[in-house]
Amino acid sequence: MQEHAASQATAKLIEDALAERFGEACPVDADLRGLDELARISGHRVHRRFLPRAVEPKLMRLLCACALSAPSKSDLQQADIVVVRDQAKQRAIAALIPDMPWIADAPVFLVFLADASRLPTIAWLRNKPFPNDHLDLFFNAVVDGAIVLTTFMRAAAAVGLGCCPISAIRDRADVVSDLLALPPRVVPVAGLCVGWPAEESHVTPRLGLAATLHEDRYQEGDLAQQIDAYDRRREDLRPYRRQRAPERWGKAQAYGWSEDKARQYAEPLRADFGAFVRAKGFRLE
Ligand SMILES: Cc1cc2nc3c(=O)[nH]c(=O)nc-3n(C[C@H](O)[C@H](O)[C@H](O)COP(=O)(O)O)c2cc1C
Repeated sequence: MQEHAASQATAKLIEDALAERFGEACPVDADLRGLDELARISGHRVHRRFLPRAVEPKLMRLLCACALSAPSKSDLQQADIVVVRDQAKQRAIAALIPDMPWIADAPVFLVFLADASRLPTIAWLRNKPFPNDHLDLFFNAVVDGAIVLTTFMRAAAAVGLGCCPISAIRDRADVVSDLLALPPRVVPVAGLCVGWPAEESHVTPRLGLAATLHEDRYQEGDLAQQIDAYDRRREDLRPYRRQRAPERWGKAQAYGWSEDKARQYAEPLRADFGAFVRAKGFRLE
């Protein structure tokens, strides 16, 4: 009886999180298994403020092992994790990105790697040709890296830790690569701040499911209308506190997600990343 009440409460938690996320109802059957896991997934939020409390290395190793249990394309196992234990290195990485102080503050900082270095080595060790040195090699390794990152975040959330991925380390991928001694064909996918959350943080609304969930075929629908509706819903729930680059674009009356993202991508970002990846030995043709 008590168990059923608990399941109903968890089901309600999931329904509330999804309603806030997507602005529409997503009914949850209280008899489903795994509701606790669904509650954590649906209630996902990044954390950028952490308690000054250490995360045991033993726990980190356990979470990394869980993360590296993630599926891997063709069992090729092309993702690695660097645990940055050296505080000077963490500070050096943080100093590259001064507008994200949570990098220096994080009790633990990890870097998730796409590692396509082992495959050509295996070909050489086993005296085989390697005719697959093209874009797909890079893509597969990055996908594996991203899946391991996500799996780590899920494992961390299960034990109550908070995380924030940091793709901004790729703004200075060459420096990060040198700091971490990354060999050829190994590139950073993202960093990750990890720690015990200092605050609850909040659910970030997403585009409505009509825009991102398709049946049988890609359905464009009325994208402009869906984006307007999302902008308004998001503005009601979680308005932007600051407008991006007002010196260039002025102050908008209504400042929604689409205005923010349009302004963000009106500046060239990481235009040199392709050159970095090529310099690391990837062929992207
Ligand atoms: C691959 C990836 C890279 C990210 N990079 C950064 C980053 O450099 N700095 C940062 O503060 N947040 C970063 N984030 C966090 C996103 O800003 C965050 O996920 C997004 O605003 C949605 O919020 P939510 O995850 O709480 O729903 C990143 C997230 C992902 C998945």
